[in-house]
Amino acid sequence: RVKLPQYNTIDDAVHLLKKSKNIIVLTGAGISTSLGIPDFRSKETGLYSQLEHLGLSDPQEVFDITIFREDPSIFYSVAKDILPSTQKFSPTHAFIKLLQDKEKLLTNFTQNIDNLESYAGILPEKLIQCHGSFATATCVECGYRVKCEEIYKDLKAGRVARCDRCIRNMRLKPFGIKRKRSTNGLSTSKKKRQSYEDSTDDEDYDIAVAGVMKPDITFFGEDLPATFHDRLTKHDKDLVDLVIVIGTSLKVAPVSEVSGFLPPETPQIYISREPCQHVDFDIDMLGECDTIVTELCRRAGWDLKHEMIKED
Ligand code: OAD
Repeated sequence: RVKLPQYNTIDDAVHLLKKSKNIIVLTGAGISTSLGIPDFRSKETGLYSQLEHLGLSDPQEVFDITIFREDPSIFYSVAKDILPSTQKFSPTHAFIKLLQDKEKLLTNFTQNIDNLESYAGILPEKLIQCHGSFATATCVECGYRVKCEEIYKDLKAGRVARCDRCIRNMRLKPFGIKRKRSTNGLSTSKKKRQSYEDSTDDEDYDIAVAGVMKPDITFFGEDLPATFHDRLTKHDKDLVDLVIVIGTSLKVAPVSEVSGFLPPETPQIYISREPCQHVDFDIDMLGECDTIVTELCRRAGWDLKHEMIKED
């Protein structure tokens, strides 16, 4: 997109905030880091910098659907580190809620799976969780869906969660019939298969490789929820009058393409620690997003209430 020359300063941003009525807020992991939740790509602190021990050629493989089908234990070994762990929300979440209260929020497209938008009070009809969430999990083999609470113990323990329905179906098969061992794309690495065979009898082996439950977060190689495309193309595109992108490196498509997809005359603001090299925004505000949105509200004369914001 080509930068609009008339918007440059913080006060331009404040003016846009005040006059706009249909704002898209597109968020990423940076809006939750002040709560102690790591982002993905920050050099020292991001989740991907902590995964060297897994020996992957690219840490993103943890969320790759092909790798998951081959060996779900890789994802399950880090799942506990990305499980939503708090219901507290940041001043930036409160800012999005304030836009909603002022009837200015068109949609919050979030890439985050921590569900903190809901705790902040963003209404379901205003929220698109582009990369899904941990709310539910689905069996990769039979499609059986459960609430994630049901596999929470496995997630916490770093153990691959198995599908109850697949296991039940196996148990119902008549005794004596040789069951076909599951070949549902699960790891066939010699080491892993050997260890199951060493330690379990036939039935336990079958159960150990029964349908794997996958939390309904969107992995690389999977489609985004249909609501993402529908909302953007059939609803928001013709209504949006301001875009605010906060706390995302915009490295992952198709969310990274939203900015270029929207009408070129719609002003766009970027709030993050570092500049985004591959998208031209009209106004870049670089720094801590909580501080920036607090200052925007102060200049707009809006009361952003949040316990993490210190009074002067
Ligand atoms: P990234 O880690 O790629 O980007 C987060 C951005 O926020 C970085 O540019 C940080 O500099 C910035 N940031 C961090 N803390 C901040 C703060 N307090 N204030 C302002 N900026 C801050 O995370 P995402 O862009 O969200 O997908 O990553 C997108 C997707 O990549 C994720 O949804 C995830 C990941 O792979 C899947 O797992 C499918």
